[in-house]
Amino acid sequence: MTTPVTTCRVILIGFGAVGHGFATILAQHGERLRRQSGIDIRIVAVATHSRGAVIDPAGIDLAGLLASAGHAGGLAALPGATRLAPTDIIRTTPAEVVVEATWTDLATGEPAISHIRAAFAAGMHAITVNKGPAALALQALRAEAAACGRHFGFEGTVMAGTPSLRLALEGLQGCAIHEVRGIVNGTTNFILSQMERGMDYATALAEAQRLGYAEADPTGDVEGFDAAGKAAILANALLGAALRPADVARQGISQITAADVAAAAAAGERWRLIARVWRDADQVRAAVAPTRLAQSHPLAGVTGATNALTISTDLLGDVTLIGPGAGGVATGFAIVSDILALYRNR
Ligand SMILES: NC(=O)c1ccc[n+]([C@@H]2O[C@H](COP(=O)([O-])OP(=O)(O)OC[C@H]3O[C@@H](n4cnc5c(N)ncnc54)[C@H](OP(=O)(O)O)[C@@H]3O)[C@@H](O)[C@H]2O)c1
Repeated sequence: MTTPVTTCRVILIGFGAVGHGFATILAQHGERLRRQSGIDIRIVAVATHSRGAVIDPAGIDLAGLLASAGHAGGLAALPGATRLAPTDIIRTTPAEVVVEATWTDLATGEPAISHIRAAFAAGMHAITVNKGPAALALQALRAEAAACGRHFGFEGTVMAGTPSLRLALEGLQGCAIHEVRGIVNGTTNFILSQMERGMDYATALAEAQRLGYAEADPTGDVEGFDAAGKAAILANALLGAALRPADVARQGISQITAADVAAAAAAGERWRLIARVWRDADQVRAAVAPTRLAQSHPLAGVTGATNALTISTDLLGDVTLIGPGAGGVATGFAIVSDILALYRNR
């Protein structure tokens, strides 16, 4: 007997590292996913900011799409190329899901919030890997999704495809969560790990930039802005708060010196940039700060660009999850897992 297959048509807005990772997963593992889940995920449209857009209602040829990333002509050279803007593509292209994978703006959440609202207006589910909408408008977007009977997925906004939000929201359902602490920025963890091996801050940062972990302007990572955005998402998603990134007390790692790292090591401790959200009476608070942890602490053992989260609950005590926090395929997997979850939960 053959399993019935449901087709899930996806409009992908943003075709950078994550969009590419998602398309690569479908190209390499789409057939297995279809057999395992009964869901046939097809990308029917892709839009970018400067490299054009393409539509094929039957499903874009993934080999051509992936090859286009390396071509100067971009998507404009593919069959089905269009000049339509992303919101017009969402309005006019039949699909089940819009995947939002554009640049993060932690001040406005745009253009991502508009893309997500366009999806709901067109009767589609929305999935984002972009921290902006989840850090700035999570409760509003959840309510708008519920009002139109659609799903809003944002698993990839914290710890990429490592199922941090899903673990807390589904696996720990029935527990009360009172605190979440974690290493949610791989760049800073890589820098601190290199400093433990004897590098000074500037050399460790240069190494992170050379390996592609840190951007040319590393401010968003090293001053804790990225972690503060993720702390706001954790507070809002897991503790029901309505915090914005600016509400998160924030301190980065740029002031940590080689002497600080050596002093911690001499005391049997390690510096980690810890994002923490916790209940304080009837309030939810959030902070990002470099923190000295005993070497025996589960988060102290997390080195390199890896991320980790400890979720403190009433019934289970602490649950710690360790895994990748970035990367095109690792974050593309978050999109796949959100798509499969939305069909599973329907
Ligand atoms: N990379 C990771 O490891 C990772 C992990 C977790 C979450 N994220 C988040 O996922 C999102 C995508 O990350 P990425 O690494 O793929 O970024 P990226 O490589 O910079 O790609 C961003 C894509 O968005 C497109 N874009 C920007 N503004 C747009 C607009 N107004 N309309 C249509 N397309 C637009 C860009 O167009 P052009 O191609 O024309 O430039 C590009 O294709 C970001 O929000 C990021 O914070 C990334």
